[in-house]
Amino acid sequence: MLDPKLDCVAVLDFGGQYAHLIANRVRALGVYCVVMAPEDFRAGADAPAGLILSGGPQSVTDEHVRLMRARLAGYGNPILGICFGHQLLAKLHGGRLVHGSERQYGPTPIRCDPAAELFLGLPTEQTVWMSHGDHVAELPPRFRATATAPNCAVAAFEADLRPIFGVQFHPEVVHTPHGNAILKNFLATCRIRTPWAPDGMRRRVVEQTRAAAGDATLFLLVSGGVDSLVALQVCIEAVGPGRVRSLHVDTGLMRLGESDDILKFLAAEGFRNIEIERAETRFLRELAGVADPEQKRAIIGRLFVEVLRDKLRALNLGDNWKLVQGTIYPDTIESGGTKNAAKIKTHHNRVPEIQAMIDRGLVVEPLRDLYKDEVRLLGRELGLPQPLLDRHPFPGPGLGIRLLCHDGSRPPSPCGMGESGWELPPTVFTSFQPDSPTAQGRGGLQSLRGRILPVKSVGVQGDERSYRHPAVVWSPDGRWPVWPELNALANRLVNELADINRVVVSLENLTDVEFALRETFVERAGLDRLRQVDARLQRRLAGIPEIWQAPVIALPLFDAAGDQAFVLRPVCSRDAMTADVYPIDFGLLAELARETRAVPGAGALFYDVTTKPPGTIEWE
Ligand code: XMP
Repeated sequence: MLDPKLDCVAVLDFGGQYAHLIANRVRALGVYCVVMAPEDFRAGADAPAGLILSGGPQSVTDEHVRLMRARLAGYGNPILGICFGHQLLAKLHGGRLVHGSERQYGPTPIRCDPAAELFLGLPTEQTVWMSHGDHVAELPPRFRATATAPNCAVAAFEADLRPIFGVQFHPEVVHTPHGNAILKNFLATCRIRTPWAPDGMRRRVVEQTRAAAGDATLFLLVSGGVDSLVALQVCIEAVGPGRVRSLHVDTGLMRLGESDDILKFLAAEGFRNIEIERAETRFLRELAGVADPEQKRAIIGRLFVEVLRDKLRALNLGDNWKLVQGTIYPDTIESGGTKNAAKIKTHHNRVPEIQAMIDRGLVVEPLRDLYKDEVRLLGRELGLPQPLLDRHPFPGPGLGIRLLCHDGSRPPSPCGMGESGWELPPTVFTSFQPDSPTAQGRGGLQSLRGRILPVKSVGVQGDERSYRHPAVVWSPDGRWPVWPELNALANRLVNELADINRVVVSLENLTDVEFALRETFVERAGLDRLRQVDARLQRRLAGIPEIWQAPVIALPLFDAAGDQAFVLRPVCSRDAMTADVYPIDFGLLAELARETRAVPGAGALFYDVTTKPPGTIEWE
């Protein structure tokens, strides 16, 4: 809600993955900021001091232009358009857009004009994070480009006569290094007279939780991850330990020894009233024969609710209880939980059964507006021990979405690659000119080879879900480019090959290695193999502080000896909204590949070199 005492900036939410993040960043810069639906915006005497139009999954339509023409009439304060918002502002003022011809996802170099207001004091050349399929092809009259990128002549613009700015990239994500400074420069044009300081997060979250709880007993599903434990601590502080009950469900989809470790840990930390339900048989029975990732997510989410209901009945808690979930903001936005947002994947705490309970006011979500880094900060304020707060995130559906399945149907036929079948034409490597090739790297790049794999994974491209193939790249002569060049190559492959949304590398020479797709479902034997590989790899990666999370994924692909292929995906992130690839030492990677093969039935190890976007952190 607008606070009349404060100068405010409003973010109009067109459904972008980062709309809420923009508001967070603005607030962190000391300016009061609200998110609102575009239809709710009114120009007028009490209009915000500045306006930011967010990204969004759609292309700009005449309908958007009509809506904003009406809404912005008479509004003279500064406006910043981001991605979709940038395109919308350009079209609104008479520019021309082009759909889908030049796509850019992830890191992109730009050249900007340091005399332009948005880029004052910043380096001319910088890297920004992009995620778009459409772009501005022609600027409106009296607008000028203030930044350009390869394949994107208008990476930013400003209007000559009015404070109207646009950026095709995302200044709000942590992976745009100068993004905060760009937002700060925009805020400087808004003439904010009343600086804003956030309330203590702990007080706000605890009070909101107490109010939402009323006099009900709070019932929590505790996975043992950071979110659920911080939510538990918030509840205890809000209503006292006597009114908080919790349940850990061992779904059979946990990592090696994880449920037991969690219970031991919680007992040692003095958490009481936690029960455990061993539900492996139930989960595996319902997942039998299911291959589709969204279907698996739906089943797992539904089973959590069923187990919970059974438990509540057994405990005889009566009707006066509410379910507490450790939902954080990325879960909501990726599940399509804001008005214009696309569904990327249904997080386990947003399945229809839970949604029905939310609609009936039976669910309390203390962390629903927070990002992972904020949850960790809150946890620290609440006095939770640091090792617990530093644990890597682990998704609610667990290994159920890290074991990729195949229903045994015929493998898909090669798409879009013409004569060469699944092989990437060598020209994609030989024609690649990195921006600043090093002598060491140049040779390595040219001799690489690649192939599209016949499996699919989820990505997020231009704020929309994608479900496409990964490409695997290897070096027949064992020479590899240096990391920045490998990153640039992966980025370019995804931008240019419409059928893929990820790139993985294999240290093994795959020239003569064939992988066959085999019927694979979520079953005990496959889970055990994944658990073994995961445990070995996590042990070796523990203690590398740059790694934020390192999912290990089992593929339904088997080599001639019948050994299964795995993927390792260590990412560097802060809030899970964007992620970069951890540039692993190839010596260590070779050791990890050997560790993988040491597990019976495990074969090749691929290393995921895809940023988010275009790939999500998890594969499903
Ligand atoms: P993605 O894969 O969408 O994931 O980039 C972002 C973060 O969310 C975690 N994740 C989940 N967490 N329930 C959760 O509690 C889920 O259903 C779920 N799916 C993904 C993921 O591990 C990453 O940290």
